[in-house]
Amino acid sequence: MGMIGGGKDAFIGAIHRHAANLDSTIELVCGALSINPDVAMASAQSLFLPAERSYLTYQDMLEKESQLPAEQRMDFVTIVTPNFAHFAPAMLALEKGFHVVIEKPIAFTLDEARQLKQKVEETGLLLLLTHTYSGYPMVKQARQMIQAGELGKIRKVWVEYPQGWLSQLTEREGNAQAAWRTDPTKSGKSGCMGDIGTHAAHLAEYISGLKITDLCAHLSIMVEGRALDDDGNVLLKFEQGATGVLMASQVAAGEENALKIRVYGEKGGVEWAQQEPNTLLVKWQGKPTQIYRTGTGYGNYLSSYAIQSSRTPGGHPEGYLEAFGNLYRNFSQVLAARIDGTTPSEEALDYPSVNEGIRGMAFIDNVIKSHQSSEKWTPFEV
Ligand SMILES: NC(=O)c1ccc[n+]([C@@H]2O[C@H](COP(=O)([O-])OP(=O)(O)OC[C@H]3O[C@@H](n4cnc5c(N)ncnc54)[C@H](O)[C@@H]3O)[C@@H](O)[C@H]2O)c1
Repeated sequence: MGMIGGGKDAFIGAIHRHAANLDSTIELVCGALSINPDVAMASAQSLFLPAERSYLTYQDMLEKESQLPAEQRMDFVTIVTPNFAHFAPAMLALEKGFHVVIEKPIAFTLDEARQLKQKVEETGLLLLLTHTYSGYPMVKQARQMIQAGELGKIRKVWVEYPQGWLSQLTEREGNAQAAWRTDPTKSGKSGCMGDIGTHAAHLAEYISGLKITDLCAHLSIMVEGRALDDDGNVLLKFEQGATGVLMASQVAAGEENALKIRVYGEKGGVEWAQQEPNTLLVKWQGKPTQIYRTGTGYGNYLSSYAIQSSRTPGGHPEGYLEAFGNLYRNFSQVLAARIDGTTPSEEALDYPSVNEGIRGMAFIDNVIKSHQSSEKWTPFEV
């Protein structure tokens, strides 16, 4: 594994390294870890990267790594830069023959996302898009139960992602993560909806198995002086007649990462909340609610997809790092199978990629379009 971004000046890069390390099958061998050369070098040193594989720019890294013998060069590169700096390194990595792990939203614009899809298809290389929440075992369990028809036809999806960390002008208080996220030249067309609304939309489509077909969005800038939305509400229509609501906010003062989803079919519903991630509530009309738990019921009630993404026995909590690790587990199993000439399991193949990246970028575009429109419904165009 090589890494672009994720130095001492960064947030999510370290989480990726923890996640990639969880199964002891992935080793960080090189990095261009920061846009700031001093930070890039200090970060590489602190991670014990060899000097000759501690790079100052991603261009240099991708060029030099591609010249190394196949058994020495990195197999894939993880891109954990801000949104505006996703496309160029991802495209170059694919052109140089490297598999890619990339943060969401996949790019800065929908057009860039389309170009990445074309390049992935052209090269046959793998791409993992890190929509973290789809790595939780109980999220996989919910998806499998719905796919198996246990809840009947799906009618309703509620998804909410409230955070409070942008309740003030955090971007003017020296917070680097807030600064680029609220800057349209670095974040993209949307702030909150691009940053966390895309996670909520992905989770809604992943669990329900249904695609959003139309939406009606209202966005707000609640904190005076901010340039991008920090709050939004979206009504949704899904395939097969289901409807839904998506709320995302970064000004829900006092909230942490209170992502929660409820999906209801004709017979019952599922409820999952990331702050209690080892529990899935399964509700039945006219019967008591069931409590499904991570790490229990092996060979009994948990789906093979949930088991593939579980690491500890019941009651030993699994959380955010493990969910991230499960994305890496699946991706690396598929990559290892590619290298060994074997066939990966169906469960390992279940990770987000370019198609989900395109839907994320389209979600942002359609939400903005709807917010600016006086029509009630905006068709979800991709
Ligand atoms: N999956 C998730 O749950 C999740 C969570 C947080 C962030 N993210 C995404 O991860 C990405 C990074 O977010 P962050 O909060 O870690 O940002 P950050 O500002 O903390 O870190 C960005 C890093 O990229 C480096 N960088 C910028 N341009 C570069 C370049 N051209 N070459 C090399 N390094 C460069 C910076 O120096 C820094 O190290 C964003 O796209 C964000 O949306 C996803």
